[in-house]
Amino acid sequence: MRNKTFLFGSATAAHQIEGGNTNCDWHKWEQIPGHIKDGSTAEIACDSWNKWQEDIKLLKEMGQNAYRFSIEWARIEPRKGEFDDKAIRHYRNILLELRKAGIASMVTLFHFTLPLWLAREGGFESSSSAKYFARYAERVANDLSDVVDHWVTLNEPNVYAYMGYVRGEWCPGRKSVFCALRVLSNLISAHTKASLVLHRYSSSVGIVINVSAFRAKNYLPLSHAIAWCVRMINHGVLFALLHKRVDFWGINYYFIEHFGIGFNIYHKQYPISDYGWKIYQNGLYEVIAECSRWKKPIYITENGVADNRDVVRRTFLKEAFFSLERAITEGFPIRGYFHWSLLDNLEWNQGYKMKFGLCTRDRKMRKSASVYSELIHGYSTKFSSSD
Ligand code: FCB
Repeated sequence: MRNKTFLFGSATAAHQIEGGNTNCDWHKWEQIPGHIKDGSTAEIACDSWNKWQEDIKLLKEMGQNAYRFSIEWARIEPRKGEFDDKAIRHYRNILLELRKAGIASMVTLFHFTLPLWLAREGGFESSSSAKYFARYAERVANDLSDVVDHWVTLNEPNVYAYMGYVRGEWCPGRKSVFCALRVLSNLISAHTKASLVLHRYSSSVGIVINVSAFRAKNYLPLSHAIAWCVRMINHGVLFALLHKRVDFWGINYYFIEHFGIGFNIYHKQYPISDYGWKIYQNGLYEVIAECSRWKKPIYITENGVADNRDVVRRTFLKEAFFSLERAITEGFPIRGYFHWSLLDNLEWNQGYKMKFGLCTRDRKMRKSASVYSELIHGYSTKFSSSD
């Protein structure tokens, strides 16, 4: 039996925490009234660009052994084909500090934001985007791969295409299924090209997909068929297309939702988060079980709850651990859990009202942060020795 260290960490994304990320498409998008519900911007965010050492200190204090964060393409390649050594060095310093602290790193290359030059060329609508993404991956892999433990090419291509190109509520605000499909197809080739590059440097390259518990709203066969179709469209097709091109799956799990015709017999059965999402942490086990059919290691790369008063998050975390324990006991290949998020941050079009943090933006730990610490302490041996 091999002894694998289970990763217990938290996750963030560059634009949501760094502040001063003004050379990207989301910055421009935020300036237009109505785009962000509370009128806020990521101008300052958590100021993690300057305060990243404090972030690492928080991880250490909670006993976390892993950190998932993203590096900002717009900073690294501020102008087409021009790379900024200073920005790359900045991320290198973070990675070195994590190594020093014994914290494993999972680095995401694209977490929803694009350099302005690429956005002007159509972003992922453009067929050249995959080529540009691979060039960016090549540069950062060359400069950083000796200090990165796990690479993630893209965060949630499914949510990105849906929110930005079908619903039009996120940057760039398009409402066209046709565009969304084109974007998805370019994202798939971006992942494929970038993972080929990254594999020359690393044997741990994955993609992060949002998988919700999409269930039928009643016992009618048609409702089950509809829920099945929703699962296929949301993530099933992506898994089928990409399983040969990943070393691991990153799964972001947040909520349960019901589909079908007729009456929803599960109506009112679930606690609701501040965001309005239905909380169902047993779903974490269910999506792990669903994704294990692809026989790849799985990391839960995000799981969290918008909970301003910090009353739900404690139970939410405990239930996450029950689900993980069950999945591990049943032999599913689950290798780590990253809570979303380390800090409250700019929650895209919702602004700062949705508080997902174990800590506040001014880095005060919530009670749930100590619950997470205790859980890590209590479960680390149990989770790590299984293989
Ligand atoms: C996920 C995103 C992440 C955050 C959480 C709440 O879909 O990846 O950036 O917004 O939702």
